[in-house]
Amino acid sequence: MYFIDTHTHLYDEQFAGDADEAVGRAVRAGVTKMILPDIDRSSRKAMFTLADRFRGTLFPCLGLHPTSVGPGWEEEIEEMESMTEEKIQAIGETGLDFYWSREFADEQEKAFERQIRLACRKGLPVIVHSRDATEAVFKVLERCRHLSPVGVFHAFSGSIETYRRLSGYGDWYVGIGGVVTFRKASIAETVRQIPLDRILLETDSPYLTPVPHRGERNESSYIPLIAEKIAVQKGIDIEEVASVTSGNAERLFSI
Ligand code: NI
Repeated sequence: MYFIDTHTHLYDEQFAGDADEAVGRAVRAGVTKMILPDIDRSSRKAMFTLADRFRGTLFPCLGLHPTSVGPGWEEEIEEMESMTEEKIQAIGETGLDFYWSREFADEQEKAFERQIRLACRKGLPVIVHSRDATEAVFKVLERCRHLSPVGVFHAFSGSIETYRRLSGYGDWYVGIGGVVTFRKASIAETVRQIPLDRILLETDSPYLTPVPHRGERNESSYIPLIAEKIAVQKGIDIEEVASVTSGNAERLFSI
């Protein structure tokens, strides 16, 4: 039995000094592959340097996070579009985040669309971050529908109706993380109705730490806690959760 963490920011400064140990703990916990979504150019070098040290275990991506979209966003997208030498497994994370600010809402939408188009040109999946922006996300997906994008809605917390609606806009998976272990989290109920063959496991570390570690820094070695909770909610074995979600991740990210 092994697991894949499809969303972990192990290059974040919260891991400064013990990122290598965090990778080791994850591998010993059975988390044998980890996807590293990109944030913006400020942390990109740290991400590629870490991924280089653990080839075949850590897989980097390329993206501009919606909360990093501001003045100069277009130049940063152009820089990403012209990067051809780095081996990446996905475009992201990208998407829309209106929770913190709507100041750059229009720019976020343009940057999101440009990144979906980039992914489709490169034949790569997209890692989507959506927060307080569901309708605006669907508006952008509508404009890209003819491109048949593939990817994952990371940290999915939407309703079963939102999940069903997604299937009309391409080939989409949902990333389920630590929130599923929280008491009263609606996703714990929704996950019963989402087919296992559409689910990816993720930590989003260092954020969204699962129970019983809430309040501490999150890390990829906690993935089995998330898998166990999904197994309980669905009334199946953790082995089945591990094998189906790992297969999903390997297909989507070609790893
Ligand atoms: Ni993230």
